[in-house]
Amino acid sequence: MCGIIGYIGNNNASPILLQSLKRMEYRGYDSAGIATINDNELIVRKDIGRIDQINEKIKFDAVKGKIGIAHTRWATHGTVTIENSHPHVSCNEEIALVHNGIIDNYMQLREELSTKHNFKSETDTEIIAHLIEEEYAKRKEPIETLKYVSDKLTGSFALVVIFKDHVNEIYGVRKYAPLIIGKGKKENFIASDIVSFIDYTDNVIFLEDKEIAKVTINSVKIINFDGKEIRRGVTHVAWEAADVSKEEFSHHTIKEIHEQNSTVNMALKQDKVGFNNFIKELTSGKNIFITGSGSSYHIALIFRNMLTRFAKISAQAFLSSEAEEYSELMDDNSILIPISQSGETADLLEAIRKVKNKGVKILSIYNTVGSSLSRMSDLSMNLNCGPEIGVAATKSFTAQLAIVYKIIFNLCQMENGDKKLEGLSSNIKEVLDIKKSLHQIIEVLNESNDVYFLGRSIHHPIALEGALKLKELAYIHAEGMAAGELKHGTLALVEEGTPAIIINPMDETYRDTISNAIEMKSRGAKIIGISSTNNEVYDYWIKIPEVDNSIYPIIEIIPLQLLAYFTAIRRKNNPDYPRNLAKSVTVK
Ligand code: F6R
Repeated sequence: MCGIIGYIGNNNASPILLQSLKRMEYRGYDSAGIATINDNELIVRKDIGRIDQINEKIKFDAVKGKIGIAHTRWATHGTVTIENSHPHVSCNEEIALVHNGIIDNYMQLREELSTKHNFKSETDTEIIAHLIEEEYAKRKEPIETLKYVSDKLTGSFALVVIFKDHVNEIYGVRKYAPLIIGKGKKENFIASDIVSFIDYTDNVIFLEDKEIAKVTINSVKIINFDGKEIRRGVTHVAWEAADVSKEEFSHHTIKEIHEQNSTVNMALKQDKVGFNNFIKELTSGKNIFITGSGSSYHIALIFRNMLTRFAKISAQAFLSSEAEEYSELMDDNSILIPISQSGETADLLEAIRKVKNKGVKILSIYNTVGSSLSRMSDLSMNLNCGPEIGVAATKSFTAQLAIVYKIIFNLCQMENGDKKLEGLSSNIKEVLDIKKSLHQIIEVLNESNDVYFLGRSIHHPIALEGALKLKELAYIHAEGMAAGELKHGTLALVEEGTPAIIINPMDETYRDTISNAIEMKSRGAKIIGISSTNNEVYDYWIKIPEVDNSIYPIIEIIPLQLLAYFTAIRRKNNPDYPRNLAKSVTVK
């Protein structure tokens, strides 16, 4: 969940690494550091806090050297301290490295190494620096050393390593964590994330698992853990640098919320052949399983609901972190549909690894080009919604939903399906305007400790998603629930003034959901209705346009995203970087 990068080139590394760290800050933001080599000296600067704060204090960009590595951290092993920040350095101060991932056997290795090495941090990463030092002393050759060390380490990791006596080379190792080479002109990069070097180059080489890269100013050599040299071409990625700027918006999150009227269209533009193959598989009669985490899991729930109700195809949806029981059920007569923005969520990749060798077909929906998920899939569809920088999923959520609609409408040969899909963009535009009328509701939410989100059927996952957005951006406890479940327990928590957000479009769920709203109101709840039609039970009404019943979920989520964003602003939270959270959850 950290961001890592290395640079080698004709320019001073540190200003470039600083810019890259800012680009990757969404991956982790509790501490950061850089290391360069200059005049035969290994220079390390690191501290805790946000990158701008750290830079103000220790002036990263003034550090000299044309080779360097950098890290932005989201703490897993060890608390947030300077000692635990990366880069980590060997005892002899000859080797420095940055790491993303988790080393499972670090306790055992630490014990083995602690008689000879002096540990300064509580991290799993530091053992790698000492282990490399130990083995490099014997082998005197970086690639052989890294191969040996990688075999000793269990877990998932991507490493970028520099050796003081190899000042013209930078090394990367990939095993179950992303690592990508950026090929520039007389400069090269190696990083966890394309976004980190997109200001400098959009030509990339994707490393696969169990590969080591040796990168110089004008060459790249890839060797797998078996010692075989791998030839791999350069891919040009279409993400332009402008996509990752905030433009006129104060935060990435609100920019990304506003982009949704165009990003849904991008998501709908799928390669015809690929799309038809996807549909062919879905209708092949195999058992269908859909998985995701967080917001992507909510999409899995909507997908299952629509497959079952509209296309009459039965499917199961499960949380990737709960894959165990479902993987037992999968065999070569099964399809697994993993859904993910990042394509790097550890639980999701693990769920795939559990079943892939049983002959299960992997049909994925993802956003990040070249992600691990994209390369583990038999067939896939890309969200095409550009990089999502805000930690909370917003435009990726609606892009996923647009793809689900495209699939379902195609499966059902829905009348006017294309027209409905074409209309999504203007529906979203209309609903984005709602932000002007949310002030009073934001004040109510700001004063609350608990908020309930209720919806039935296809609106239930939207209730879950709305609650998740409010929790992560505004730090208010929120619960999304199936409206019918209210009286089976949760009603006991309703007090005078408790806000309840009722997702209540004019469809077959309307009447029953109104009854639930009345039950809550009679216990003192303040009812916030999301509907095209007002009702006397609502204390506040968020008016959404009247659309086809199947389209409502994509319309309903927009006001909920806006409420979460503006409540976060009201509370002076930074919505782009919610506390304790990281964008890609690459650890289990
Ligand atoms: C919520 C959010 C997370 C992600 C989850 C899965 O706003 O962003 O819950 O949805 O971590 O991430 P991906 O889709 O990258 O697998």
